[in-house]
Amino acid sequence: MQKDLIRHLRDPNLIPPEKQTLLSSIAGQAAAMNMPCYLVGGFVRDILLGKSVNDLDIIVEGDAIQFGESLVKKYGGKLTPHTKFRTAIWHLAPDTLDLITARNETYINPGALPTIKPSTIGDDLLRRDFTINAMAVRVDGEHFGELLDPLNGQADLEKKIIRVLHPRSFMDDPTRIFRAVRYEQRYGFILEHSTLRLINSECFAILNTLSGQRIRHEIDLIFTEENSLKILLRLSDLGVFNRFDPNMPKVNEKYLVLQNSIPPAEFAISVDRVLLGYLLWLLDSPVEVVNALSKRLDFKSELSKAALAMVQLKNDLISRKDFKPSAWTIHLEKIPLAAIYALWLITNEPALKEFIVRWRHVKTKSTGDDLKAHGLPPGPRFGEILSQLRSAWLDGKVHSFEDELRLLETLIR
Ligand code: CTP
Repeated sequence: MQKDLIRHLRDPNLIPPEKQTLLSSIAGQAAAMNMPCYLVGGFVRDILLGKSVNDLDIIVEGDAIQFGESLVKKYGGKLTPHTKFRTAIWHLAPDTLDLITARNETYINPGALPTIKPSTIGDDLLRRDFTINAMAVRVDGEHFGELLDPLNGQADLEKKIIRVLHPRSFMDDPTRIFRAVRYEQRYGFILEHSTLRLINSECFAILNTLSGQRIRHEIDLIFTEENSLKILLRLSDLGVFNRFDPNMPKVNEKYLVLQNSIPPAEFAISVDRVLLGYLLWLLDSPVEVVNALSKRLDFKSELSKAALAMVQLKNDLISRKDFKPSAWTIHLEKIPLAAIYALWLITNEPALKEFIVRWRHVKTKSTGDDLKAHGLPPGPRFGEILSQLRSAWLDGKVHSFEDELRLLETLIR
């Protein structure tokens, strides 16, 4: 395994060459300063699984800010230090890298953010969420490739299980419930049985005290995953959503499976994956529930606006059935495209597709200058006339520039 690890660390298919160069610079500098330096967390987990990695999570036993300053001196770039936590971000274009001082953490209250003190790598691994995330690989000098695995994370990786480090883990940080299920479904692992039993009413009670922003961040992360549907279903089975808020939308498989669909080329749109995930999840919710969740989970305004517009549009879809294309267009232009697309995915309403593919692009041939040339003084009539001309195009009443000019003259008269 040790040999495999070193081979993986040097494999350009797993770590891109530019990251390898960066890693050698860091490792060399740490060795020169006699500062033990490690790659940790998700990096180690994924490299041991033979998966490609992009983020280098670096921890030093020593002062990460001082270490960062020496890197800047030797290799250039810029350092953003955070003195309170003794961490720093090293910006070396095109990369940015987090440099962290090994630390221990204590949770004064369940669910509160932890108190942090500089410490050893051993303590740092002990503060983590799951055994598979609590490994480190040392990289400085002759220690390159040494695996630190005090909690047997490697064995759990092989057994394909997610296991917490101690029974209070989910109470210290209930967001770990979401993380556990995310890893479980991402890697096709299972939650080890005593870990599973720790997801209980005691930690649900603490979960309910967390800020909306912390929980929303976890749901955002779920929607970035290819397996988002499975993750949501599993969380739902575990009762997480229901215990959090009985109004949380049901996980509708038929809807959410469409998160992975790509808009047809003729739509000429791209929709943010996370935004689409939320929209599909919220699609059957009443307006009041969307409003309440938006507040509780601290939705960003883009999501809040799109979700509300979508559920309102869904509610009056039937009453708009016989609307002319111009009336549809005037209405849909006020609604975010992502919302229209999400609703089309579920309803297949032809007007929604027509709007995205054609109607929204329809323009008049005449411009304000043409109206002036026809002797019309600038003013609100300008907008009205141009809008009537556009509606005529949309509703198939004009088919050519000549038709449009004829209509323009009638309207001006
Ligand atoms: N971590 C933790 N508890 C949390 C969040 C993070 O213990 N609530 C630790 C874990 O050791 C994790 C590391 O911090 O491996 C980095 O966290 P993060 O970047 O969120 O996760 P990754 O392990 O990089 O996993 P992912 O692939 O999901 O980003």
